[in-house]
Amino acid sequence: MPFLAAIFSALEVVPLTLLTLDAWDFIQLTQSRCDTCGINISIPHKWTFYFLMAVGFWNFVGAGVFGFLINLPIVSYFEAGTILTPNHGHTAMMGVFGMMAMALMVFALRQVLTDGQWRRPEKYMRISFWGLNAGLALMVATSLFPGGVLQLLDVLKNGYWHARGPEFSGQRIVRIIEWLRMPGDLVFIGLGVIPALIAVILTYRSINNQPP
Ligand code: HEM
Repeated sequence: MPFLAAIFSALEVVPLTLLTLDAWDFIQLTQSRCDTCGINISIPHKWTFYFLMAVGFWNFVGAGVFGFLINLPIVSYFEAGTILTPNHGHTAMMGVFGMMAMALMVFALRQVLTDGQWRRPEKYMRISFWGLNAGLALMVATSLFPGGVLQLLDVLKNGYWHARGPEFSGQRIVRIIEWLRMPGDLVFIGLGVIPALIAVILTYRSINNQPP
């Protein structure tokens, strides 16, 4: 049974990869010209497709690489519940389903506004897209992944109980890695979450100011 469950868990990557390939086709389309009239093709839902591309990227990194990394029973036996778990959890959960939720939200925001009304919220959406992705990447690169690898090495060297206790977490290098989590978090919140919130508020105000 665990074997079957592992197969289905791994197969989950397939539909999300197909979704990304589809989003990539749309991005290509937004950069092309109409065959008959020669005018640049304008697709209003550009940022929706960017977020869907992000789903594909994090699906590969978070679920594919970091999920498989901890999935083998021999690795899982030593790793379960260490920092490599939130490393996978953040990249797979926020990276895949968080970005997918953002894609659906941007789709809804864009859909209720005219081209003119969308100009201002779009600026914030662009910042939010890069802020969320860069923030998540920073969290992983500076803190979760190096911290997880250090902890796993400690499990192998000194045992699971040691790597979960103050002997491990009190070390200077581990403390530094913990604090290095902050830049990524700040980028994620300051340049990712807040601009998205501003875009939502601007959209809400625009639809409320529309003539009946
Ligand atoms: C988008 C898809 C995925 C999401 C959203 C996701 C999310 C998560 C989350 C949030 C956890 C942490 C649970 C906890 O703290 O107890 C977790 C654990 C785990 N995931 Fe995933 N996951 C995904 C795909 C995968 C894939 C494809 C694999 C491997 C093939 C995988 C293997 C694992 C393993 C082995 C654990 C347990 C780690 C431990 O207990 O230390 N995941 N997943």
